[in-house]
Amino acid sequence: MTQKVTVPTITAMKGGKEKITMLTAYDTPFARILDEAGVDMLLVGDSVGSVVAGYPNTLPVTIEEMIYHTRAVVRGVTRSLVVIDMPFMSYQVSSEDAKRNAGRMIKESGAEAVKLEGGVNMREAINAIAAIDIPVMGHIGLTPQSVHQMGGYKVQGKVEEQKRKIMADALAVEEAGAFALVMECIPTELAAEITKKLSIPTIGIGAGIHCDGQVLVIHDVLGLLGEFRPKFVKRYVDMRAVISQAATAYVDEVRTGKFPTEEQTFHL
Ligand code: KIV
Repeated sequence: MTQKVTVPTITAMKGGKEKITMLTAYDTPFARILDEAGVDMLLVGDSVGSVVAGYPNTLPVTIEEMIYHTRAVVRGVTRSLVVIDMPFMSYQVSSEDAKRNAGRMIKESGAEAVKLEGGVNMREAINAIAAIDIPVMGHIGLTPQSVHQMGGYKVQGKVEEQKRKIMADALAVEEAGAFALVMECIPTELAAEITKKLSIPTIGIGAGIHCDGQVLVIHDVLGLLGEFRPKFVKRYVDMRAVISQAATAYVDEVRTGKFPTEEQTFHL
């Protein structure tokens, strides 16, 4: 087995020749495949709400749902570092809440780090969690839990005032004690500037090539979500078509009596 990826492994990859790879995972079979493929970090994102559970956004996701999916992912992993997303309202109210919920999520799920959204406004929560030795990954730029405030899923940091805010968020996350930072949907020039300024690794999603690593939602990578595709997504395979073909063939074979055959049949 190649060496287990730990938090120090990830921080040591900052600025290195090899970029950090991260994908989302929500269950054991996918986790096993991605772990075996050599993905450095598996993120059990609260995107599970929209991608798997069919919610309109990530806001309804609960701590219990996150723990359930993360336990499944952890059971499929031998090498990757598993990161669990803290869902909406599990860390925003107080530092006490943030610590208690982060602790519970690590204890009950088996994940090795938590991720939460926000910059300057969440520095106390990040600091409180990091101070009890739970590794925290930050997430700035487009933060999906703020969808209503942002008025939709839009690129952030295109105008000067937003740029300054995002830079301040990045610095606040690092100063608060996060070990890595996800930057979502920001211009590549700003992501490059932040990556240069920070001593912790940056992981981009729609943030261009200059980040220390990249993350995507696995269902986007596999083409499982239909025709809509954000600009930053690269679809590596059209699994929706593959699954649809298999299901159509099954339906046809059952209806016409071609399945099961002798090969799938038991005898006395
Ligand atoms: O929930 C999630 O999947 C995420 C990634 C998009 C970074 O936060």
